[in-house]
Amino acid sequence: MAMSNTDFGFRQVPLDDKQALVDGVFRSVAARYDLMNDLMSGGLHRAWKDVMVNTVNPPKGERPFALLDLAGGTGDIAFRVAAAGGAGTRVTVADINADMLDVGRTRAAERGLDDVVTLVEANAEALTLPDRAFDAVTIAFGIRNVPRIEVALKEALRVLKLGGRFVCLEFSTVDVPGLDALYDLYSFNVIPALGRAVAGDAESYRYLVESIRRFPRPETFAEMMRTAGFARVSFQPMAGGIVALHSGWRL
Ligand SMILES: C[S@@+](CC[C@H](N)C(=O)[O-])C[C@H]1O[C@@H](n2cnc3c(N)ncnc32)[C@H](O)[C@@H]1O
Repeated sequence: MAMSNTDFGFRQVPLDDKQALVDGVFRSVAARYDLMNDLMSGGLHRAWKDVMVNTVNPPKGERPFALLDLAGGTGDIAFRVAAAGGAGTRVTVADINADMLDVGRTRAAERGLDDVVTLVEANAEALTLPDRAFDAVTIAFGIRNVPRIEVALKEALRVLKLGGRFVCLEFSTVDVPGLDALYDLYSFNVIPALGRAVAGDAESYRYLVESIRRFPRPETFAEMMRTAGFARVSFQPMAGGIVALHSGWRL
């Protein structure tokens, strides 16, 4: 029995029900997920992910570098880091949704990256991965979907090596006058309509938009990272605050 409520989009649901509802959203959109990302962001998500990969900065040579990409879905961040890194780079994608991972496995096989990118079904709140195993942990557009964010942050810290870096890309708070109204109009009208037209599912995309609005402001999320134990926490808003890139270290 759930003891407290959380937000599912703008709906209040028992904390324990949120994960099942989130899983339904991503099961429904998995096959069209990558196409929808391009359409919804006008391709901008690629530029934001490039900034994330530059921040992770995998070594170019043979030096071993182990990345864990949490809520990694269809493997987008994993493939980008694998392309940016050298022969020693290995990426583990952890996601709770088997349908998203299946799309990722097909992509890994098509690219001949089965040995470089491993995809595992795992809950970010309870990783079945050893302590201090990774040089870096990333999570892109995933943390807001996790019901207990503070638990997932502690798990990310646990699996990082000392000196390892956590990098989180997430939708944030638009603070630019004028842009905020335009962004609202786009989010609440265009995105659900695109979801209906392309993925046959307006409701899931309405959830995605609402969950963005409920996500904490960047200063608040930075404080949550510090509370979880990350050091040297910083963040960088991009595109007028549409997204923010947070970074913290295990020291
Ligand atoms: C918006 S997608 C992001 C996928 C990918 N990171 C990207 O940037 O394209 C969010 C992902 O979070 C995953 N997710 C939701 N709750 C999770 C949890 N508790 N643990 C692990 N993954 C979760 C979903 O299954 C989905 O694949």
